[in-house]
Amino acid sequence: MSVVIVVGAQWGDEGKGKVVDLFTERAEMVVRYGGGANAGHTLVIEGVKLVTHLVPSGVCHPGKACVLGDGMVIDPHTLLDEIKDCQSRGLLMRNELLIGLGAHVILPYHKLLDGLREDHSAKRGKSIGTTRRGIGPAYEAKAARKGVRMRDLAKPERVRELVAANLDEMIPLIQYLGGETPSKSDISKWIDDALAAGDKLRPYTGDAGRYVDETIKAGKHVLFEGAQGCLLDLDHGTYPYVTSSSTIAAGACQSAGIGPTRVDAVVGITKAYATRVGEGPFPTEIPGEAGDRLRKAGGEFGATTGRPRRCGWLDLPALRMGVRLSGMTSLALTKLDVLGGLGEVSVCVAYKLDGKELDEPPTDPEDIARAEPVYRKFPGWDRLPSEAHDIADLPTSARAYVDTIQGMAGVPFCLVSVGPDRAETIRLSDPFA
Ligand code: IMP
Repeated sequence: MSVVIVVGAQWGDEGKGKVVDLFTERAEMVVRYGGGANAGHTLVIEGVKLVTHLVPSGVCHPGKACVLGDGMVIDPHTLLDEIKDCQSRGLLMRNELLIGLGAHVILPYHKLLDGLREDHSAKRGKSIGTTRRGIGPAYEAKAARKGVRMRDLAKPERVRELVAANLDEMIPLIQYLGGETPSKSDISKWIDDALAAGDKLRPYTGDAGRYVDETIKAGKHVLFEGAQGCLLDLDHGTYPYVTSSSTIAAGACQSAGIGPTRVDAVVGITKAYATRVGEGPFPTEIPGEAGDRLRKAGGEFGATTGRPRRCGWLDLPALRMGVRLSGMTSLALTKLDVLGGLGEVSVCVAYKLDGKELDEPPTDPEDIARAEPVYRKFPGWDRLPSEAHDIADLPTSARAYVDTIQGMAGVPFCLVSVGPDRAETIRLSDPFA
């Protein structure tokens, strides 16, 4: 039996989808534990693309159990669409999905509030750049103990009471932010739609914490799939430019309801370069045409919002912070192929701030924005052989790049990805071993 957690090492979009898909071959169960439809995972299986937002990326393996943990915030309509899409491909059949009854429900006013806040803050140059999927407001309602949970959708009266209590507080805020006051008919439609979605989702709901625990106790391999990345963690990330959930490995225990003593390994996913979506400091960002070239080569556009991702060189101080925060035992390096064809490749090995060299980002985002990256340069390489199955198959300069990252991050690579397809992978060790 092994329990493995997969997390994004930096600001999300590291290519977790492909890695979780590969690791699911060895797992019996895949558990998504935090966030909501702010995430977007693109899977390419035998040339066919599947984008998921809520359903774990292990979905492409028929017969494996997919669990949505209690720590998630779920948009029931998005989830129904995803289930339909997956089932039309013969995936995610009835007994292959379990949605935690304790997960919170995203309602239309959470999304409305998210968007209004972003617009209002943007006028003052202070937006976070959220995905506008209602994530922050849904977690706020949860923390205020006024949230609607999946279990509540079975009780229409309770949902009506909760929504009324929520909106008593939210309507003045919506008005303050310049939004239109929702009408009575808007509100009843929101409730009716959520209840109808709840009816359709009910056969898939249950006690996720117990189910996961029993699977672990039965000696099965269980994979936990993090969303976003460690530096977007609400407590430990680059606050306030973070999401509203716990994205580090510890979040798996908290949100899925398992004890930390159950965990055997934590795999961090890092791209061979860095990206960030939304606002917030990004010292290694590559401005102008060079950044555009990388964005195009890597297809760096958000799977959820379509927003162009900000692109930059790999940032080892940020990676080290992710390694520390999640106690990573190994790393998976993705998209190494995207750097092919560049004359020269840089990696940030430290930051310089006020005359001092730092091996991790400073804690204050204003200091991160002021910090100067210290780069090490590598000669570029041409296209990587997509048939590469061993590090020795890589060109010398790509090998030197990989070795340097591994040495400076302080944990070994378990996998190097050289293309989007399952086959385009160098597997170095098995986290379930
Ligand atoms: P929210 O999670 O929608 O509230 O957005 C908060 C911050 O997290 C914004 O900077 C988003 O761009 C970022 N974010 C949220 N989800 C993802 C993701 O899956 N990948 C990358 N960034 C994300």
